[in-house]
Amino acid sequence: MEKVLEGKVAIVTGASRGIGAAIAIRLGLMGANVVVNYAHSTSAALEVVKRITESGPQSIAVRADVRQTSEIKKMFAAALEKFGRLDILVNNAGILQNKPIKDVSEEEFDDIIALNVKSVFFACQEAAKVIADGGRIINISSTVTKMLLPTYGPYAATKGAVDQLTRVLAKELGHREVTVNSLSPGPVDTELFRAGKTEEQILQMAGMAALGRIGTPEDIADAVSLLVRDESGWISGQNICANGGMAG
Ligand SMILES: NC(=O)c1ccc[n+]([C@@H]2O[C@H](COP(=O)([O-])OP(=O)(O)OC[C@H]3O[C@@H](n4cnc5c(N)ncnc54)[C@H](OP(=O)(O)O)[C@@H]3O)[C@@H](O)[C@H]2O)c1
Repeated sequence: MEKVLEGKVAIVTGASRGIGAAIAIRLGLMGANVVVNYAHSTSAALEVVKRITESGPQSIAVRADVRQTSEIKKMFAAALEKFGRLDILVNNAGILQNKPIKDVSEEEFDDIIALNVKSVFFACQEAAKVIADGGRIINISSTVTKMLLPTYGPYAATKGAVDQLTRVLAKELGHREVTVNSLSPGPVDTELFRAGKTEEQILQMAGMAALGRIGTPEDIADAVSLLVRDESGWISGQNICANGGMAG
């Protein structure tokens, strides 16, 4: 793979598994040095670091619960101390809840807001202070904001918030040629997606995509690989779907 990101530095939140791990490994294959953030899964995060360093670039795992702003600051400090710059931030860490709105507790609501919105907001705030001119911020949203399925109330609300803060930040950072976009996967084969679903439900969701299957983490890494290139410098403030034609 062409090393178009050689010398650049990326932070990927929630990169110990699933979509985040695939994105971190892809950015490494493109030549970037990568900070692999995680909250609990140390051995999985170290495995991702190993995959990246084996392909050439440097990488560190940084344990930080991004629901806490102090931990976000710690993660950015670790990145700058190790690599001296930041070019790419991918806000990927997120959780899913499936419940009708009438059954969601205040605690559950606060939990999903803390990870899916607050962490993205404050990581964007830190990035806005230090990201290099021409940098890239990609916030992982969801096609649920278009599908509006029952039981996705809090989740859809969080991803709608991510899309909106993305648009505003794009306006605030454009003068430095920093682009800010949100990227909406459809269903992707990860632990988050499979939890609590029957094989029949998964097949049904696969059938909703034009391409007739659910996505892989690598499909989403492919989309990220386009947005981080120099050639995507004119794409900013957008919500881009990578969902096999499920909705747009
Ligand atoms: N999978 C889908 O179908 C789908 C569809 C649309 C959008 N998305 C979005 O894509 C993103 C990734 O989803 P996924 O399916 O890859 O999820 P996943 O397989 O559950 O992985 C989640 C990742 O986030 C990390 N994480 C969890 N809590 C964290 C915290 N407080 N601080 C830092 N890291 C934390 C986990 O690390 P630890 O294990 O160390 O906690 C893990 O690496 C999410 O934003 C999700 O909403 C997913």
